[in-house]
Amino acid sequence: MDPQAIGSARSQALRPMPARRLAGVLEPVIPKVGAWLRQRPEALSLAQGMVNWGPPLAVAEAVRAALAGGDGSASLHGYGPMEGDGELLEAVRRELQGHQGLDLDGTALLVTAGSNMAFNAIAQVILDPGDEVILPLPWYFNHVMAIQLAAGVPVGVQAGLVPDPDRLAAAITPRTRAIVTVSPTNPSGVVIPGEVLAAINRLCAERGLFHISDEAYAAFVHGSVPHQPPGQIRGSGGHTITLHSLSKAYGMAGWRLGHAAVPRQLLAGLAQVQDTVMICPPRITQRAALAALAAGPEWIAPRMAGLEERRRLVLEAVALAQSRGLPITLPIVPDGAFYALLSCATPLAGETLVERLVLDHGVAALPGEAFGLGGGEGPSLLRLSYGMLEPPLLREALDRLMGGLEELLGSPTR
Ligand SMILES: Cc1ncc(COP(=O)(O)O)c(C=O)c1O
Repeated sequence: MDPQAIGSARSQALRPMPARRLAGVLEPVIPKVGAWLRQRPEALSLAQGMVNWGPPLAVAEAVRAALAGGDGSASLHGYGPMEGDGELLEAVRRELQGHQGLDLDGTALLVTAGSNMAFNAIAQVILDPGDEVILPLPWYFNHVMAIQLAAGVPVGVQAGLVPDPDRLAAAITPRTRAIVTVSPTNPSGVVIPGEVLAAINRLCAERGLFHISDEAYAAFVHGSVPHQPPGQIRGSGGHTITLHSLSKAYGMAGWRLGHAAVPRQLLAGLAQVQDTVMICPPRITQRAALAALAAGPEWIAPRMAGLEERRRLVLEAVALAQSRGLPITLPIVPDGAFYALLSCATPLAGETLVERLVLDHGVAALPGEAFGLGGGEGPSLLRLSYGMLEPPLLREALDRLMGGLEELLGSPTR
């Protein structure tokens, strides 16, 4: 058969295709919004979940020193330990036990290329096909995707923006393996009170489930409710998984560095996944992470103060628009992370709202549907991220948003 004939046969019936099960995995939302943004390059983004600062200066210095071999890291170029380099693991232990106050008894630590990678590895390790994971709504879409990729079933539960443990308990079935909490929360900006997290953690202990606590926004607390991780509870280490990320607080999203405290019984399985996917976490990035953690909370604090001003601008813009009669509400006052959830009284779907806002009004947000919200009879929801824009641009973005919503909510049949 000549090569051309082979090509045309391939392009028809014999063309190898991706597995059918991928059709059951949620589509990522960011590329979709990104495609609209490419049509309006001057649009301002309240969509992406990133901050607009870079890492501490010490990170660049540490990387330079490591590359020059001046810090005794001659072995940087070879594979390292599967779970991460000893020095970084020690720093993570100090951070988790000292600053976060976790009880690490019965746990092991694992460094990954971002916290999403840790969640994915955990889904691979704790789920058999058909096993369920309870996700209080709104959920974080990458959690859903990781569970689906592991052939598990994400079970979104309407338990309230501060999740009611009783409603989560009612969703437990014989197939349930874990309950996930995210606090401070993406996308609502809620900080879940410590006693609620403790009740969920207790429920997990009583029912033989893992409690996966995603704490990517641990440093981002702007109100009076403190961040009180469930891993602080004495004796929780045997069933609690605590996930952290350097992407947000240290402005290192592109460096890809996260870490997980996991019940020790999961480590062998996680080693199978990590060895297959990554062999070891990138070692130069681990050097960078070590320098970032050393900069610590003192370095983060002024950045949080800056975010609080931006949060105030968002709240003021919403109040002003409401006073002018725009049918929008904040279902809950956001006091953590850098997100706010905006409810819009309109029959338009969240995705349609976002498409219009980007293409016609030059401002992007994320649709509530990406977080398992809306899509039915009720109002449409938008997630606003105020992490990326300094106050002058944020003001402009909010002006565009409210102007756009005035037009779109005023003429719902467009
Ligand atoms: C709740 C939550 N967890 C994890 C991540 C991703 O963290 P990383 O960049 O460390 O993979 C995000 C990013 O938006 C997030 O919102």
